[in-house]
Amino acid sequence: MPQSQTTVELESSTTDQGENTDESRVLIAYFSLGRNAEYPDDVDASTSASLVLENGQQYGTTEYMANLIQQNVGGDIHMIQTINPYPTDFDAVVDRNHAEMDADTLPELVESDLDISQYDTVFIGYPIWATNAPQAIFSFLSEYDLADKTIIPFCTHDGYGAGSSYTDIAEAVPGAAQVLDGLAIQAPDVSGAAGTVAQWLQEIGVDKKSDENVQAKGTAITIAVGDTVLDGVIYDTELAKEIQEYFPLTISAVGFGGREFYGGVDFYPENLEGGQRTFENGDITYCEAHHNMAIFYAQTDNPVLSVDVIPIGKVTSDLSIFDELPNNVDITFALAG
Ligand SMILES: Cc1cc2nc3c(=O)[nH]c(=O)nc-3n(C[C@H](O)[C@H](O)[C@H](O)COP(=O)(O)O)c2cc1C
Repeated sequence: MPQSQTTVELESSTTDQGENTDESRVLIAYFSLGRNAEYPDDVDASTSASLVLENGQQYGTTEYMANLIQQNVGGDIHMIQTINPYPTDFDAVVDRNHAEMDADTLPELVESDLDISQYDTVFIGYPIWATNAPQAIFSFLSEYDLADKTIIPFCTHDGYGAGSSYTDIAEAVPGAAQVLDGLAIQAPDVSGAAGTVAQWLQEIGVDKKSDENVQAKGTAITIAVGDTVLDGVIYDTELAKEIQEYFPLTISAVGFGGREFYGGVDFYPENLEGGQRTFENGDITYCEAHHNMAIFYAQTDNPVLSVDVIPIGKVTSDLSIFDELPNNVDITFALAG
């Protein structure tokens, strides 16, 4: 993807379409000024309101929100870029945007190999400009065929909310299967918005873990926790299949935070797709950073983790046993029957 217009150092999150599986028919397309303006090299997040700094990397505000969504639902990210970059001077961007809006100009987009037919669900992300989406968003909506797809808008703004953007986007895609409720986050809140984003995705029913297909594809397992045997499923994902090879598998588990029991494993899985910083009660997860497996049983209403975990299965029995356990317990996963 051509990036010659953008000189500011931003962590790459360009379109990745190579690994789109049945469970990943989600596209997160976004426009962010930081990806569409020629910032000088010395501009950083502390000097530009339009950039978020995390772990030494700079992100456009809307780009950061796009990444939070991807952490929850997976899918591919596509950066919407105009051929003609926007100025870095705020007033100059305002002027150009007004001119584009007044003339109903659809700025030409950088050519891409995006194959929109691969996707059922398309998130559309943007900064609010003059109480609407930037014209580049309407370029995207007119260029790609979004008929019969589920469209989900999301945006960042400086305090005035989503304006008329949701309505105008819905009007621009009359053939969409549905347009779900959007989420608008004020720019300074974006870096702490992981929980808000996860909750919104659960509410509109598109978080990956609420996808019944994922669970339906699971294989029945038992989870022996001390003397009690619980039922569960292990998902039909590459990582879950890899870990299943080690069943029956016992982890020496430790309770943590009143929400999970985790224990180290002595193998190193290779299929590490789909990490996320949220969980639902009952999730069985693998964590690459801590090289362990965990069962989460409480606090799903505040599902914010400091490292990524990858769900590989689910405990389907009642979870109340976990409230009673001693802090150290052996947990054995095995195929049922
Ligand atoms: C041309 C322009 C117009 C804007 N208009 C609005 C507005 O009407 N309401 C608002 O709340 N914020 C407005 N903003 C602020 C941006 O929406 C906000 O800073 C956004 O988070 C930037 O996201 P980005 O870093 O992804 O570009 C405007 C910013 C620009 C550059």
